[in-house]
Amino acid sequence: MCNGESMGLLAGINARRSCRAFRNVPLSPELLTSVFEYATFAPSAKNTQPWEAYVVTGEKLDALRAQMLDDLKNGRTAQVGKGSADTEARKKRARELSAEMTPFIQRQGWEAGSFVERSVRFFDAPAAVIVCMDEPEGKYHALDVGMFVQTLCLSATGHGLGSCILGYPLIVEPAIRDFLQIPESRRIMVCVALGFPDSEQPMAQFESSRAELEENIHFVR
Ligand SMILES: Cc1cc2nc3c(=O)[nH]c(=O)nc-3n(C[C@H](O)[C@H](O)[C@H](O)COP(=O)(O)O)c2cc1C
Repeated sequence: MCNGESMGLLAGINARRSCRAFRNVPLSPELLTSVFEYATFAPSAKNTQPWEAYVVTGEKLDALRAQMLDDLKNGRTAQVGKGSADTEARKKRARELSAEMTPFIQRQGWEAGSFVERSVRFFDAPAAVIVCMDEPEGKYHALDVGMFVQTLCLSATGHGLGSCILGYPLIVEPAIRDFLQIPESRRIMVCVALGFPDSEQPMAQFESSRAELEENIHFVR
């Protein structure tokens, strides 16, 4: 099913880094089907597989993107993640991410302040995945969907693709919901950009750091 050499599991985990610069090359239906076949090997409580994913490509994605950008430009937006309470440690890591990424954004030639819009544009990737979950939410279903998203990104890596999980597109959630005719009973959880990385671009090379293990991994011996 998988084209090309498959890499070792640990190398694949290490290689999966958010990619924010993609080649303008369409993804074949066969490739996307294989990526999603592997993604569905994600575990889920009682094997309920509660994820619902829309995979948008080609002219449909052009039209969706245009609608999303129009809503963003005209202020038809919702707040995502802003103003919510967070721990000091997590706020610090978020600040560190911004600081680490800024030189790459500059080298990429992106104007300051354009990052949210570029996230909403799926960084111009050739495929956009809208990941949803039906209500009722249940105790573990959000966790299951998270594992699906991670497995999807790892599967993309194994197929030679770059991926970026995206929360910012939810700023224009109504545009996505209207365009894809997603019922109100289906919650849009997160989005994922998929495509071949434009590896020469700084924003395809950026790798964020990680906290020291002792900060949040508690070995009990
Ligand atoms: C729920 C979630 C939402 C995210 N939203 C965005 C986003 O809107 N824009 C973006 O560029 N990256 C987004 N990311 C990617 C994170 O910034 C990234 O996973 C983190 O910095 C770790 O880097 P890595 O994925 O390269 O390992 C998101 C990741 C997650 C899990």
